Order: sequence, then structure tokens, then C-alpha cells
Amino acid sequence: MAMVMRRLGQRIAPIARFHSTSATAAVSAATRASAPRVVDQIVKITVIDEDGHRLPVNGFVGQSLFKALTRSGLRDPRSHLLEYVSACSGETCQVSIANEWLQKMPPRTEDELDVLVRASGKEKVDVHTRLGCQVVLTHDLDGMVVALGQEKAWYYL
Ligand code: FES
Repeated sequence: MAMVMRRLGQRIAPIARFHSTSATAAVSAATRASAPRVVDQIVKITVIDEDGHRLPVNGFVGQSLFKALTRSGLRDPRSHLLEYVSACSGETCQVSIANEWLQKMPPRTEDELDVLVRASGKEKVDVHTRLGCQVVLTHDLDGMVVALGQEKAWYYL
């Protein structure tokens, strides 16, 4: 047993020395400093639910608005199981976005517009209406106000 422990010690010692060098410590510190911090990736959103309550929701840069809503319990994640947006009903991820935030995101795609038209049953869809699954959160959208459900008259909010 003692011999096994001695041999094990001989094998571990060089590894331990390697990991304790100052070069390794410097690399570790640099990696930590350059790694994105979670707190810097948060996008704060105010969600107005169907009952008019204002709810704070935190999303992350690169995440879809729909994902942020599901993680906050405001939407059922099982409601979007289809891989392609054009194959989805869009009923549960329809949101209404105030004008100042709409200008900070790419316009709706043809697929998104098709789903919105199909879901609303109307020929024309309100400009504020988006599919939450198609809105990708960015730093520019920090502070965004979003209403759930059908079209909203933003001047009443
Ligand atoms: S969740 Fe299906 S269209 Fe957005």
C-alpha cells in the first residue's frame, strides 16, 4: 500500500507543480476577466399581461423573447414544439411591442407575417404585433415594454 501511495505521489507532484505556476494563474485570471459575465447579458423587459399587470422579466442577449417569457412562467414552453415558425399557429407567442422598441429590431420576415395573418384571421396585421419567438433580445432592447395577447392600443398603456 505504501509503495502504491509513493508511486501515486510521484505522478501527482509534477501535475500539481504545473498547475501552481504563475503563468497558469495569469492565464486563468485573464480568462476570467475576458469571460462574459451573466449580469452583462441580461435584458430587462416589462411585460403587460392579459389582465394589465406590469411584470418585470429578465431575458438574455441572444435569447428569443418567447424563451424569456417561458422561463418566467408567462408562456407554456410546450406551446412551441415545432421547429419551423411557418408550421406553428403563433397563437401563444403573439406579442405587442411599443413603437420605440420596434425601431430597434429587424422587421418581420415573410414567414413571421404569414403566421401572424393566419393567427389573426385578418388580412392586415397591426405593426406592433410580433411573434415572440422571432424577436431576438439584444442590449438595445433593454427596458423594452411588451404586451401579451392581442393587439394593443399603445396610447392607452
Ligand atoms: S411560438 Fe410558434 S410561432 Fe412563435
